[in-house]
Amino acid sequence: MRGSVADRCFTVYALAALLPMAPHAGRAQETQDPSCVACHGSLPDDRLATPAKLFPTDIHAQRGFTCVACHGGDASAAGFEAMDPARGFLGRPRGRMLLDVCGRCHSSAEFMRRYNPALRVDQVTEYRSSVHGQRLLQHGDTLVATCSSCHRPHQMRPPSDPQSSVHPVNVAATCGACHADADRMRPYGLPTDQLETYQRSVHWRMLSEEGDLSAPVCNDCHGNHGAAPPGVSWVGNVCGQCHTTMAEKFRDSRHAQTFAMLGVPGCAACHGNHDIQDATVSLLGLDSGAVCANCHAATDGGGLIATGMRGLIDSLETRFDSARHQLERAERAGMEVSRALFQLEGAQNARIAARTAVHSFDLIAVRREVETGLAVSDSGLAAGRRVLKELNFRRTGLAVSVTIIVALIAGVLLKIRQIERRG
Ligand code: HEC
Ligand code: HEC
Ligand code: HEC
Ligand code: HEC
Ligand code: HEC
Ligand code: HEC
Ligand code: HEC
Ligand code: HEC
Ligand code: HEC
Repeated sequence: MRGSVADRCFTVYALAALLPMAPHAGRAQETQDPSCVACHGSLPDDRLATPAKLFPTDIHAQRGFTCVACHGGDASAAGFEAMDPARGFLGRPRGRMLLDVCGRCHSSAEFMRRYNPALRVDQVTEYRSSVHGQRLLQHGDTLVATCSSCHRPHQMRPPSDPQSSVHPVNVAATCGACHADADRMRPYGLPTDQLETYQRSVHWRMLSEEGDLSAPVCNDCHGNHGAAPPGVSWVGNVCGQCHTTMAEKFRDSRHAQTFAMLGVPGCAACHGNHDIQDATVSLLGLDSGAVCANCHAATDGGGLIATGMRGLIDSLETRFDSARHQLERAERAGMEVSRALFQLEGAQNARIAARTAVHSFDLIAVRREVETGLAVSDSGLAAGRRVLKELNFRRTGLAVSVTIIVALIAGVLLKIRQIERRG
C-alpha cells in the first residue's frame, strides 16, 4: 500500500531515500528521528533551534510526522551525516521544490484518506493555475507566494484553528505581508492598498468585530490556492456565492449584459471591491454620493428611473419611520401595541425586498415591494393613532372624574366646617 502511494506521488528525487519517511496512518513517530530534534534543539543559533522548538504544536507533529517528512535525511544518524544528501537530505525546501515536498502527501487522495478523508487534495494543482504558481513555474520568480509563505513552516495548523496563519481572521495579514509591502510589489506595478482598504470594509468589520466568519476575506474572493484576480466577467459570481438573490436579480437585468460589454466590473462598479461599505439608499438616484449619477443624467431613461426608485424607497422609509415612532410612543405610555409592532415588521421586510429589487433595475419591481410596505406602514400608523386617541380619551375622562371627586370632597369639608361652627 505504501509503495503504491509512493509510486504515484514521488516525482523528482530519490525515491529510495524518501521511502522510509512515509509513516503509517495514526501511529506516532516521535521516537523515529530523535537525532534532528536533539541536536537542533540545543544549537545556539535561533534560526536552527526554533524549528525544533516550535514543531511539537504543528499539525504534522500531532499526526506523528517528523522532520524527515519534509527535509529528508537519516534520522538514525546522530552526527552531521544525518544531513547527507546521499541519505536523501533536501535542505531547506523552497520554491518549486515545495510542490513536490508537500504534494507528495497532499496530492494523494489515497494517502490523505487515511488521515482525513474530508481534506481536499487539489492544492498543488490549483496553485499551479494561480497567478502565483504561474510566475514561479514559468519565470522562476521566488517573490510570489509558495506553500510555505501562507503556511508558516513548523507552525502549520488547520484553517479552523484561530492560531493558524490561514484562519479567516488571520488571512488578510498573511496575504498583506506581501501585498501591502511596497518594495516587494514594486516590480509588478500592482497597487498595495488592498489590506488597508479591506480593513475599512463592512466585511472586515463583520468578521473582526462581530465574529461573523461568513464574511469574506481575501481567499473567499480570490481563491485559496487558485489566487487570481476576479476578472470582470465573473465578479458577480464571486459576490454571488454569498449574496445570491442580489446576484440573480443583477444577472437578469439590463445592466448585466451592458456592463460585460463595456468591461465594467459588475457589483464592484457600484460597491467597490476591497472597500465595500454598508449600502444605504443614498447610493441610489442622482444626488451627490449616488452611484447611478456616475453614468446616468437626469434626462436619460436610467436617470429618470433612478430618481423614481429613490423617491419610492424614501417614501417607504418616511412612512415606516412615522408608524414606528407613533407605536413606540404608545408603548412608552403603557398601551398594548405589541401586535401592531409585530405586524409592522412586514413593512421592514418589504423595505429589504425593495432594496434587493433595486438590482433588477426595473421600476415596476421596486414599486411592487414599496406598495406592500406602504400598506403595512399605513395600517401601523392608523393603529398607533387609534391607540393614542384612546389614551387621550381615557386621560380626559380621568381628569373630569378627578375634578368632580375633588369638588365633592371640598363641598363635604365645607359643610362639616359649617356644622362645627354652628355647634
Ligand atoms: C549533530 C547536529 C545535527 C543533527 C543530528 C542534524 N542537524 Fe541539521 N543542522 C545542524 C547544523 C549545525 C546546521 C547548520 C549547518 C550550516 O549552516 O551549514 C544544520 C542545518 C539544517 C538545516 C538548514 C539547512 C539550510 O540550508 O539552511 C535543516 C533544514 C536541517 N539542518 C534539518 C535537519 C534534519 C531534518 C535532521 C535530521 C535528519 C538534522 N538536521 C540533523 C546540526 C544538526
Ligand atoms: C511539513 C514540513 C516540514 C517539517 C515536518 C519540518 N520542516 Fe523545517 N522547514 C520546512 C520548510 C518549508 C522550510 C523552509 C522555510 C523557508 O525557507 O522559508 C523549513 C526550514 C527549516 C530550517 C531552516 C530555517 C531557516 O529559517 O533558515 C530548519 C533548521 C528546519 N526547517 C528544521 C526542521 C526541524 C529540526 C524539523 C523537525 C523538528 C523540521 N524542520 C520539520 C518544512 C518542514
Ligand atoms: C508526509 C506527508 C505530508 C507532508 C510531506 C506534508 N503534509 Fe501537510 N499534512 C499531512 C497530514 C497527514 C495532515 C493532517 C490532516 C488532518 O488530519 O486533518 C496534514 C495537514 C496539513 C495542514 C492542515 C490541514 C487541515 O485542515 O488539517 C496544512 C495547512 C498542511 N498540512 C500543509 C502542508 C504543507 C504546506 C506542506 C509542505 C511544506 C505539507 N503540509 C507537507 C501530511 C503531509
Ligand atoms: C496564497 C496563499 C496560499 C498558498 C500559496 C498556499 N495556500 Fe494552502 N491554504 C491557504 C488558505 C487561505 C487556506 C484556508 C482555506 C480555508 O479557509 O478553507 C489554505 C488551506 C490549505 C490546506 C487545508 C485544506 C484546504 O485545502 O482547505 C492545505 C492542506 C493546504 N492549504 C496546503 C497547501 C499546499 C500544499 C500549498 C502549496 C502547493 C499551499 N497550500 C499554498 C492559502 C495558501
Ligand atoms: C510571499 C508573498 C505573497 C503572498 C504571501 C501573497 N502574494 Fe499574491 N502575489 C505576490 C506577488 C509578488 C504577485 C505578483 C505576480 C504578478 O502579478 O505577476 C502576486 C499576485 C497576486 C494576485 C494577482 C494580481 C494581478 O492582478 O496580477 C492576486 C489576486 C493575489 N496575489 C492574491 C493573493 C492572496 C489572496 C493572498 C493570500 C491568500 C496572496 N496573494 C498572498 C506575492 C504574494
Ligand atoms: C469581497 C471580495 C474581495 C475581497 C475580500 C478581496 N478582494 Fe482583492 N479584488 C476583488 C476584486 C473584485 C478585484 C478587482 C477585479 C477587477 O476589477 O477586475 C480585486 C483585485 C485585487 C488585486 C489586483 C490589484 C488591484 O488592487 O486591483 C489584488 C492583488 C488583490 N485584489 C488582493 C487582495 C487581498 C490581499 C485581499 C485581502 C486583504 C483581497 N484582495 C480581498 C475582490 C476582493
Ligand atoms: C448599478 C449599481 C449597483 C450594482 C451593479 C449592484 N448594486 Fe448592490 N446596491 C446598489 C444600491 C443603490 C443599493 C442600495 C439600495 C437601497 O438601500 O435602497 C445596493 C444595495 C446592496 C446591498 C445591501 C442590501 C440590503 O438589503 O442590505 C447588497 C448586499 C448589495 N447591494 C450587493 C450587490 C451585489 C452582490 C451585486 C452584484 C451581483 C450588486 N450589489 C450590484 C447598487 C448596485
Ligand atoms: C463569503 C461571503 C461573501 C462574499 C464572497 C461577499 N460578501 Fe458581501 N457580505 C457578506 C456578509 C456576511 C455581510 C454582512 C452581513 C450582511 O449585511 O449581509 C456582507 C455585507 C455586504 C454589504 C453591506 C450590506 C448592507 O446591509 O449594507 C455589501 C454592499 C456587500 N456585502 C457587497 C458585496 C460585494 C459587492 C461582493 C463581491 C465583490 C461581496 N459582498 C462578497 C458576505 C459576503
Ligand atoms: C457603470 C455605469 C452605470 C452605472 C453606475 C449605472 N448604470 Fe444604469 N445603465 C448603464 C448603461 C450603459 C445603460 C444602457 C443599457 C441599455 O440601454 O441596454 C443603463 C441602463 C439603465 C436602465 C434602463 C434604462 C432604459 O431606458 O430602459 C435603468 C433603469 C438603469 N440603468 C438604472 C440604473 C440605476 C438605478 C443605477 C444606480 C443604482 C444605475 N443605472 C447605474 C450604465 C450604468
